[in-house]
Amino acid sequence: MKSPNGNIELKFSVNPNGRPVYEMSYKGKAVVKPSFLGLELAKDKHASKGMKETDLMDGFTIAKEETSTFDETWKPVWGETATIRNHYNEYVAELKQQATQREIRIRFRVYDDGIGFRYEFPQQKELNYFLIKEERSEFAMAGDHTAWWLPGDYDTQEQETQECKLSEIRNRMKEAVNWGNSSVAVFSETGVQTSLQMKSDAMDINGERRSLYINIHEAACADYATMHLELVDAQTKALTTQLGGGSNAYTPNPAPSPWPIPKPFTFVSHLTPDATGLKGAMQTPCETPWRTVMVSDDARDMLSSNLILNLNEPCALEDVSWIHPTKYCGVWWEMIVGKSNWHYTDDFPSIKLDQIDWTKVKPHGRHAANNEKVKRYIDFAAKNGLDEVLVEGWNVGWEDWANMWKRDVFDFVTPYPDFDIKMLNDYAHSKGVRLLMHHETSSSTQNYERHIKEAYELMNKYGYDAVKTGYVGDIIPRGDHHYSQSMNNHYLYVVREAAKHHIMVNAHEATRPTGLCRTYPNLVGNESARGTEYEAFGGSRPDHTCILPFTRLQGGPMDYTPGIFVTRLSEWSDNTSWARITIAGSLALYLTMYSPLQMAADLPENYEKFDDAFQFIRDVACDWDDSRYLEAEPADYITVARKAKGTDNWFVGGKCDENGHTAVVKLDFLDKGRKYDCTIYADAKDAHYETNPQAYTITRKVVKAGQTLRIPEAPGGGFAISLIAK
Ligand code: NOJ
Ligand code: CA
Repeated sequence: MKSPNGNIELKFSVNPNGRPVYEMSYKGKAVVKPSFLGLELAKDKHASKGMKETDLMDGFTIAKEETSTFDETWKPVWGETATIRNHYNEYVAELKQQATQREIRIRFRVYDDGIGFRYEFPQQKELNYFLIKEERSEFAMAGDHTAWWLPGDYDTQEQETQECKLSEIRNRMKEAVNWGNSSVAVFSETGVQTSLQMKSDAMDINGERRSLYINIHEAACADYATMHLELVDAQTKALTTQLGGGSNAYTPNPAPSPWPIPKPFTFVSHLTPDATGLKGAMQTPCETPWRTVMVSDDARDMLSSNLILNLNEPCALEDVSWIHPTKYCGVWWEMIVGKSNWHYTDDFPSIKLDQIDWTKVKPHGRHAANNEKVKRYIDFAAKNGLDEVLVEGWNVGWEDWANMWKRDVFDFVTPYPDFDIKMLNDYAHSKGVRLLMHHETSSSTQNYERHIKEAYELMNKYGYDAVKTGYVGDIIPRGDHHYSQSMNNHYLYVVREAAKHHIMVNAHEATRPTGLCRTYPNLVGNESARGTEYEAFGGSRPDHTCILPFTRLQGGPMDYTPGIFVTRLSEWSDNTSWARITIAGSLALYLTMYSPLQMAADLPENYEKFDDAFQFIRDVACDWDDSRYLEAEPADYITVARKAKGTDNWFVGGKCDENGHTAVVKLDFLDKGRKYDCTIYADAKDAHYETNPQAYTITRKVVKAGQTLRIPEAPGGGFAISLIAK
């Protein structure tokens, strides 16, 4: 099967043992070498009900093959472009396992920029309920590619990306793990997360020396565990070796089965287990998520690809009129930095929610979510055209919220005495602003599910239309993991319940997105990676934001919470950490880190010091009719131009790593013959993310299509441009 333009070729067969095998090439170059597909099933204690635990690995014959073509253009509720083309050729193999009389299907979709495949399990007498021990989908890479990877971890995605050859992953693993996170569970010295971005050595492609950019991820992960990838190299037997570190986090992988036979640079899928150690409980008819392999010889195609959204189901919500892109600020950064607190009192060694009369409690005086402060943030939002104000720490329970194995940690409806929920919402609405709700669950998922109805009714009553949820710490019920099938079901349950109440969701610490926002566009954001908060916890490397669009953002937008202007936190707090970015670089993130939900994260008083630069945050859109990636190289630089929805105005942003970059912006996307008022926010000549982050220039001129702008970006810097049609 070839892709519509013929660049990608997929081959599928079953080998003499009846094992499904696929391979994939791009412009004649191997992307995935012959790789096995299959699933190992777990022995079921209810096996007497006719369930056999025979693996779905081999003994298959191809009973039937189907091919088809699909070409449709659809409109996302919000997005990088107004329309998205979904054009692929499809191949379905119906496989029969003679010994068990079971039937499964493997469905492939071949796009011009990659492939997706999934396993499907029709309902049948011999396959009704089954348990997954492990999915064994292989991805045999054709060389020792450079990879940008995070350690495979069942509970956190908040690491800094490692850049190294596939063969070096094992030696880099220990230092790659974020041992300091509040919940860590690594499982293998060669286990990595998706989305995994790779780059091959240069090769001859149609007469030119070019590299292949290859990305492996998944799409539409619902009612299934999140997938990791494990390199199966010659040393794989050593997987049970402790990784070490002071944490109890290491979960040894059960000794791998002799299969698959080690091949260099071969990844095999590794699903996140639940508390029982199993990877999935399935009931037919059902299917796995799509496994995706994107490829191009142009890095920009990795960023403009819609393959993952296309592999998700169309919008499941009938009325989407209440879903809107949102720019917000919040009572947040000052708590992250440590200047003020979420909690209200220091009087109790621990809190039982139903035993405290909060009106009689002595406040410690540093509680941030108080009436006066929230009003100030509302005023700031109203003055600057921001839509919403996030307020964290408004509800009782923060005194002992994290890592206590405490089930009844919050009720999500009782405000602290100094937060007048009615007055503040009324005040906000009178100024055309809304409050943005915060529900930290402390990963106590049953507690959240028990309270969710009341919590969302409270939101409806006071006029909140968006909630930021959070899953800090180990999962309760104990033993479960953040990315297991049961937790993935929880996150989706929350999104669906929220939709019933016309509430948009921005989930932090939840599983990495896989494009489900196409089906549920009220899922407007996720964290699911290392966000700006880490700039207050020791910092992130300047190239971090030049990698995330290639990796984390493949599955959906990130609530990265950009916009730090006063990067030396000691200027206004006791925190000695600092943000590794220039002010112009901070502005760029509103374009390079696509999201329909964008925060202006710094304090109002810090923005007031740089009001001329803040003008860009006031002006920039967060919903788009068109997007053009002009320049891109993973971990080096990204330059993108976007056309604001429903207007003729464009915004351009460029972000670079610690080495600096000169962006070449050809204005060929502008309407011919038209003039634009152009404002360029750039790093000053001597700007530098460490030594001189606040040095920027603002230049205004009139430009037209056909001109080229050359814009120097400082180390750790970037630029932002607004182009307003005249
Ligand atoms: C971690 C989240 O990422 C952060 O934004 C939030 O403020 C804290 N948890 C508390 O919920
Ligand atoms: Ca977080």
